[in-house]
Amino acid sequence: MSFRRDPLGPLDREAVREGDHVPSAIPVPGSPEAGDGIDGRLFHQDVHRFRDGSRVPGWRESYDPAKDPAVVPDPATTPVPEDLRAEIEAFMARYPDHRSAAIPALAAAQRVHGWCSPEAIEQVACVMRLTPAYLTAVVGFYDMLEARPVGRKTVYVCTNISCSLRGGDELLDALRTELADDPDVNIRGFECLGACDIAPMCSVDGTYVGPVEDAEIPTLADDIRRGADPLPAKQLVRRRVADVAANSDDVQRAAVDAGTIGPVLPPDGPPVGDLR
Ligand code: FES
Repeated sequence: MSFRRDPLGPLDREAVREGDHVPSAIPVPGSPEAGDGIDGRLFHQDVHRFRDGSRVPGWRESYDPAKDPAVVPDPATTPVPEDLRAEIEAFMARYPDHRSAAIPALAAAQRVHGWCSPEAIEQVACVMRLTPAYLTAVVGFYDMLEARPVGRKTVYVCTNISCSLRGGDELLDALRTELADDPDVNIRGFECLGACDIAPMCSVDGTYVGPVEDAEIPTLADDIRRGADPLPAKQLVRRRVADVAANSDDVQRAAVDAGTIGPVLPPDGPPVGDLR
């Protein structure tokens, strides 16, 4: 018995029609040239390739051998805000290979510039002594690094399985509708944010909030618009945890002092850990 897969995508077919493909230079398994003793009836007799030898059209479109080699930005002509420079250098000091700091360094630049603009990337590249192209590739891979201008308030609404089953998609739609007129808000659906026990939930500039009830959505949207503490009674950071000490007021106040969370709930507010 023999079988034959059809590996030809539309562009490959185009190439074949135009005679723009070349046979593989690699001996086909099972062929007399390969001399491997394999039953050749199980394999293709030919591997279709483009003229450059690739089977993947377009992979080298951005490659231009006529371009000058990429250069590391010159510190003399690349001004970098002092705070940003210090933050990036602190990240670099944490790793044996300073390139490991690329993601936190880009995130820091994004906080300053609002997105990973060419100027932001240039500044990070200058401090890290890398080419902007190296960092652009990192930005293109990690979707929490923004490659285009976006609103400065970031809202991620989880639409993964637990949240989706409990109304995450509706929460996303409702927040999008409520905040449609605010260009300063970057609202996105997101994969599991690791807080499935408070589904449906969202992250507002890093503050986890949930479970969000339908009736609370207008208030949440208003908090986001005003830059206020979002639904304080529904924040993950205020929920009771197994570590008893972590539930004390002292611990919460320390977090407030450190700026990790907003004001501690008033004594007559809803009891921490009993917020559903
Ligand atoms: S599914 Fe939403 S946080 Fe995990």
